[in-house]
Amino acid sequence: MNHFQPVSLEHASRLVNHGPTVLVASADGSRRNLMAAAWSMPVEFTPPRIAVVIDKSTFTRELVMASGHFGLCVPGTALVDLTYALGSTSGRTLDKFAHHGLAPIRGPVLGLPLLEDGCAAWLECRLISEPHTEAAYDTCFGEVVAAAADARIFSGGHWNFRDDNAALQTIHHLGAGNFVRAGGVLRART
Ligand SMILES: Cc1cc2nc3c(=O)[nH]c(=O)nc-3n(C[C@H](O)[C@H](O)[C@H](O)COP(=O)(O)O)c2cc1C
Repeated sequence: MNHFQPVSLEHASRLVNHGPTVLVASADGSRRNLMAAAWSMPVEFTPPRIAVVIDKSTFTRELVMASGHFGLCVPGTALVDLTYALGSTSGRTLDKFAHHGLAPIRGPVLGLPLLEDGCAAWLECRLISEPHTEAAYDTCFGEVVAAAADARIFSGGHWNFRDDNAALQTIHHLGAGNFVRAGGVLRART
C-alpha cells in the first residue's frame, strides 16, 4: 500500500530542513538518473526554494541543465546501501533505475522519475536559471513546485519520528559510507 500524500508548498521546506541525504532525480528525453547528495537546504520561504550542490562533472548536472528540472527524493534507512551505491557510480554508463530494479513514479508537475518505495518524501523543483552561479559554483537553486511525503512519518506539515517508522527515518551522511539515522527526537521546552 502506498502512503504518499501531497505536501502543501508552504510546508515543503521542512522535508529537507534537517539536512537529510537526498537522491537527486533528473531526466531529459529518454535519459534519466538518480544520484546521492548530502548537501541540500531550503533558502527561501515563499515561493519555497532550495539549494543543492550538484558537481559539474556529474551526469545529473548535465541532465538538470538540459531539462531545467530536478527532483529530490528523501530516502529512509532501508535505502542506505542504495543511496551509497547511487553516489558511487555514474549514470553516464548505466541506467541506475534499471540496474537497481527501481520503479519510479512520474512526478505530477514536471514528470520527473521519483522514488517512493523506501523513501519518506520527494520534491519536484524547477531550476532557477542563474548563469553566473552555474558557471562559478556547483550549487543549483530550484523552486519547489510539488511535494509529497509518506504520511506514516510526515503529516500535517510535521515529521513524526517514532519506533514504528524507523525504516523511513532519514539518513545523514558522515562521510565514507557512514550515516546516522534521524531519530532520538529532543523536544525543546516552550
Ligand atoms: C552519501 C553521498 C553524498 C553525496 N553528496 C554529494 C553532493 O552533495 N553533491 C555532489 O555533487 N555529489 C555528491 N556525492 C557524489 C555523487 O553522488 C557522485 O558523484 C555520483 O556518482 C554522481 O552520479 P551521476 O554521474 O550519475 O550524476 C555524494 C555521494 C555520496 C555517496
